[in-house]
Amino acid sequence: MQKRKTILDIARMKQDKSKIAVLTAYDYPFARLMDEAGIDVILVGDSVGSVVSGYDNTLPVTMDEMIYHTRAVMRGSRQALVVTDMPFMSYQSDIRDARINAGRLIKEGGAQAVKLEGGVPMAATIRALVDIDIPVVGHIGLTPQSIHRMGGFRVQGRADDQAQQLIADARAVEEAGAFALVLEGIPAPLAREITRLLTIPTIGIGAGIGCDGQVLVIHDLLGLYDKYAPKFVKRYADVAPVISRGIEDYIQEVKQGIFPTDDHSFK
Ligand code: KIV
Repeated sequence: MQKRKTILDIARMKQDKSKIAVLTAYDYPFARLMDEAGIDVILVGDSVGSVVSGYDNTLPVTMDEMIYHTRAVMRGSRQALVVTDMPFMSYQSDIRDARINAGRLIKEGGAQAVKLEGGVPMAATIRALVDIDIPVVGHIGLTPQSIHRMGGFRVQGRADDQAQQLIADARAVEEAGAFALVLEGIPAPLAREITRLLTIPTIGIGAGIGCDGQVLVIHDLLGLYDKYAPKFVKRYADVAPVISRGIEDYIQEVKQGIFPTDDHSFK
């Protein structure tokens, strides 16, 4: 049986200058396909709220939903490291809540690590989780749970003072004990600089090529979600028309009495 990757493997990849490939998954079939393809890390992202549940943002996603999706991803994967997002208000109010909720994602969901959004203000929370042996991935820059503060999904860190703040955030997350850091929606030169300054790996999304790894939302990569089309998304396949064609053919065959044939019936 293939051994599942751990946070030590991910740390080693930065030292070896081996790029880290990360994708989101929320269910068994996608987890299985990407795991068999050799993905390094599967992120059970709270982006599930947008691309699966159809909300406008990630804020409504609950702990129970994240546990449900994590269980499915764990059943579908064998070799990837699985990290689960802590949903909005599962860690922001106090450290005790954060510990209980992170613990649930590990104990009930089966995740190996959790991810949470925020820099300097979240450092004590990250430390509190790491202190009870829950590995943490940080996430700074365009943090979707801060949509109302940011006034929409906007690139962060363009002004010099914002860039300096993001560098301070990145340092605080590393010093608090996170084992990796997602950099989302920030200028590529800034992401490269943060990557150079940190010893932990950076995983970029809309942060350019200078990061130690990249993450994309699987539904964006496959053309299954077109409500927003951020500049940083590359569509590697366009499966929506294939799915639509299959469904349309089925409807036609049922209506015309073509399906099922004897091949699909019991004697
Ligand atoms: O929720 C998510 O999918 C994420 C990634 C886009 C980084 O946080």
